[in-house]
Amino acid sequence: MERTFVMLKPDAVQRGLIGEIISRFEKKGLKIIAMKMLKIERELAEKHYFEHRGKVFFDNLINYITSAPVVAMVLEGKNAVKVVRSIVGATNPSEALPGTIRGDYGMDIGRNVIHASDSKESAEREISIFFKPNELCEFKRIDENWVYE
Ligand code: RTP
Ligand code: MG
Repeated sequence: MERTFVMLKPDAVQRGLIGEIISRFEKKGLKIIAMKMLKIERELAEKHYFEHRGKVFFDNLINYITSAPVVAMVLEGKNAVKVVRSIVGATNPSEALPGTIRGDYGMDIGRNVIHASDSKESAEREISIFFKPNELCEFKRIDENWVYE
């Protein structure tokens, strides 16, 4: 089983999309093993998006992500990183396919609703900056034998 980090960005929270989005992951069969709402401090935002430091959109990205609360979570499942990225859709919502979260709920690359880790390594790094090890819940979901062969 693999873990990935997902964050509902401030626009998702402000637009009342939290339940709708989480419900897609739950129904897919991904297990939520940690979740919290927080207002991200600048320092944490810059750490999370360190790979984009120096790019033209960096300041806007940091302002956006720190502008209102977010919902951070850890999802677990088979190939979770890849599966979640495909549910999330392309970075630019105007290019994201209908049926994906960004394709269904977004219009602008600077308001693209959700973040998801892009690799196993990023997932491990991002989980560790948002959650303490004891905040990750290990449990068996009652439907696991029906989600996995
Ligand atoms: P994320 O990290 O948020 O899940 O998004 P991503 O992997 O699909 O895209 P990434 O290249 O990592 O970009 C991070 C976030 O920066 C904003 N962005 N703006 N104006 C622009 O050209 C531009 N490019 C990226 C987006 O909010 C993107 O999600
Ligand atoms: Mg990214």
